[in-house]
Amino acid sequence: MGLKRWYDEHVMPRMITLACGQENIMDRRMRLIPLARGRVFELGCGGGLNQAFYRADQISSFAGIDPHAKLLARARDQAAEKGWEVNIRQGRGEDIPFNDSQFDTVVCTYTLCSVEDPERVLSEMRRILRPGGQLLFLEHGRSPEAKVARWQKRIEPVWKPLAGGCHLTRPVGASLRGAGFEVEPLGQSYLSKTPKVLGWMEWGVARKAGY
Ligand SMILES: C[S@@+](CC[C@H](N)C(=O)[O-])C[C@H]1O[C@@H](n2cnc3c(N)ncnc32)[C@H](O)[C@@H]1O
Repeated sequence: MGLKRWYDEHVMPRMITLACGQENIMDRRMRLIPLARGRVFELGCGGGLNQAFYRADQISSFAGIDPHAKLLARARDQAAEKGWEVNIRQGRGEDIPFNDSQFDTVVCTYTLCSVEDPERVLSEMRRILRPGGQLLFLEHGRSPEAKVARWQKRIEPVWKPLAGGCHLTRPVGASLRGAGFEVEPLGQSYLSKTPKVLGWMEWGVARKAGY
């Protein structure tokens, strides 16, 4: 096994779970995830860090995909601890293996930064969401401060291979709007105790525009 593959399989999942499981991030999940209702789909559900916050009594079914086998195994463990039945599969957001309008809620947290083709993934999330359904998102991305954004651009080529393909420079709210979502309202701030280049967060509830 090459060093890169070993790192991606064994070190990176631990780093991601640690970084994405920090108290200030879990606090944001705690405020967003309980809004999930009905038939729920989570993109990039690996690691299972959102599992603790789903209200199983408000949810009729749960499905999730992630390409990373080890992170998926953790997601399954977290779901098993919670004791509810879930359909967690290996897959990619660029080609979501579910039907049009199949879900009432789509959840996407800290995943748009890592996918290969964000436009396609957004279009897939829109496709599987029923009209009137909600996309719950919590993502980090490009800072609105020009100086910080310049540093993000400089650091990204070094950061990306260390952090599972994570980009620092992707706009969040603007991409959602560009993909045909209405965002109501868009939460934005830097994460406390985090360098600004990593800490610009955007979150909220989005719906398919025009319904
Ligand atoms: C930073 S982790 C976040 C994990 C989880 N969403 C969370 O909130 O803790 C990024 C996740 O995106 C997944 N991922 C990477 N490329 C993906 C793709 N093309 N489609 C779906 N998920 C992807 C990774 O395997 C990883 O689980």
